[in-house]
Amino acid sequence: MSKKILLSGVKPTGRPHIGNYFGAMKQFVDLFNANDYQCYFFIADYHALNFIQNAAEMNQNILDLAIDYLALGLDPKTAVLYKQSDVSAHTELSWIFDTIVTMPYLMRAHAYKDAEAKNKEINVGTFNYPVLMAADILLYDTDVVPVGADQKQHVEYARDIAEKFNFIFCGATKDGKNADKAIFKLPEPLILESVATVPGTDGRKMSKSYNNTIPLFATREEITKAVMSIVTDSGGPEAGGIPANVYAMHKLLKSEAELTSLYDTNKGKYKALKEALIEDMDAFIKPLREKRVEIAKDSQAVIEILRDGAERANEVASKKLSAVKKVIGVL
Ligand code: ADP
Ligand code: TRP
Repeated sequence: MSKKILLSGVKPTGRPHIGNYFGAMKQFVDLFNANDYQCYFFIADYHALNFIQNAAEMNQNILDLAIDYLALGLDPKTAVLYKQSDVSAHTELSWIFDTIVTMPYLMRAHAYKDAEAKNKEINVGTFNYPVLMAADILLYDTDVVPVGADQKQHVEYARDIAEKFNFIFCGATKDGKNADKAIFKLPEPLILESVATVPGTDGRKMSKSYNNTIPLFATREEITKAVMSIVTDSGGPEAGGIPANVYAMHKLLKSEAELTSLYDTNKGKYKALKEALIEDMDAFIKPLREKRVEIAKDSQAVIEILRDGAERANEVASKKLSAVKKVIGVL
């Protein structure tokens, strides 16, 4: 029996931090390498174009993201690793979907509503974001899409769009009539197990936008600087001399049993506890950082991996697009 298809995309929007790692990336890589699924993993550069409109930055971010995932152990021989813009079927199918998706429906998207509530100027690309994402997913007969809770609605959009297309052009109904004629498979979201939100150095959620991160591939110096700046007296639940933010980060790296003795011995000694966290953080990051440096030395090889991935993705996507073109009557 052939394997189920798992697909995921990540926008190349900058250096990942340990919140991204424990909240999403680690779980992706584990899923990809568990060998239970045929996996597609792509760099959503056309989605990122809504935010990054600078060629040098885009180029660098794409390469960096590919290197990041390779350094985390994603095996490009088994998983198909590619960038969205290399498979033009994504944008082509997105246009086709645009003709059956209504504006009021897209206006219900959380991301759109948030942007509107903040009175932001919204470009058409942001408005259409869920349509391109539906195309990303549906081109590959995807069974499951691993996402954080914030992306669940987008997977539901992909399902709705698939159903609508299947109905209009293939006569397949929701209750199963003409199911064999349907072109698109309905994907399921696989909601990632929620790790407690990783706090940043200031105690708020670790986020690029708050400038409170520890980069995933940080140097020893960066780790030291970030950990030393962790706020220890910001009114968090610091029961019994335990600095909450330091402890929360430490818990990602060590078991509670190990931490209990460390924190008991060093009650109230924030500096010693931070030094212990620096050691543990560096021990965790060092092998990843070193692997990343190795991979980054040969950027040509990384570009080759993306090229090879694009070829494999194109093979699948172009077949699906041909089937679509046939049923809409342009082929
Ligand atoms: P940022 O807030 O830094 O811009 P993103 O929104 O790009 O991060 O996050 C990408 C994914 O990483 C999210 O879907 C979420 O699952 C995970 N993530 C981000 N920040 C954290 C955090 N502080 N703790 C846990 N998971 C996180
Ligand atoms: N919207 C996703 C995010 O912001 C990225 C993405 C684009 C994606 N296309 C996708 C994720 C298809 C899963 C499947 O994180």
